[in-house]
Amino acid sequence: MENKIIIGNMKMYLNFDDIKNYLDKTNDTLLKAIISPSSIYIPYFLDKGYKVAIQNISEHDNGAYTGEVSASQAKSMNIDYVILGHSEVRKNLIENNYKINQKIKNCLEQDLKVILCIGESKEERDNNKTKDIIKKQLDLCLKDIIDYDSIIIAYEPIWAIGTGIIPSNDEIRKILEYIHSLYKVKIIYGGSVDEENIKTLNKIDLDGFIIGSSCINPDKFIEIIKTIDK
Ligand code: PGA
Repeated sequence: MENKIIIGNMKMYLNFDDIKNYLDKTNDTLLKAIISPSSIYIPYFLDKGYKVAIQNISEHDNGAYTGEVSASQAKSMNIDYVILGHSEVRKNLIENNYKINQKIKNCLEQDLKVILCIGESKEERDNNKTKDIIKKQLDLCLKDIIDYDSIIIAYEPIWAIGTGIIPSNDEIRKILEYIHSLYKVKIIYGGSVDEENIKTLNKIDLDGFIIGSSCINPDKFIEIIKTIDK
């Protein structure tokens, strides 16, 4: 394995007692993942030696923005990665490609690595719009950005997130090829990855995976990491 990127997106799951149990399970396998807990728990993961991704940052640098965290604040906490453009953030926090573009610029200025989530809805897929949507998201989110070394694209079809339904390997390969034809970036897959389907998904020549609900249970997550790591 050539150091695959494995992200554990904990979303807004787990209370502090669960987090303490999780941290107690920390071992060399879990430490291979980049973990993305709710922001309030980040220092505990950093103290245990995890690489950490914050689930979002503000489009602003500094100032009167209650409830937000800036790229420079994240950097000052020794956070290395930022997840941007997740479909749940796009939907619930009214995120758009223009804001994401500004946020990516803020991250790159702070030397933070960006995990940029893109992907089509079921309706867009059914109407054969997948490639158009992906191209639009990439072109707008990456506008004016010339160096892609710090950008990881997470292809996460919205219809696959939290549904237990995943695209076939061939479908993912086609998207992978398409993205590579547009941008020279690292590409990972996300959407309902679990300890069973990872055995098949891992046959695709991807740079890694982003795992949501299946990273909440450390034992399951360890199994997934071990499969990717083979
Ligand atoms: P899921 O979430 O694995 O629960 O589908 C993935 C994600 O939203 O990043």
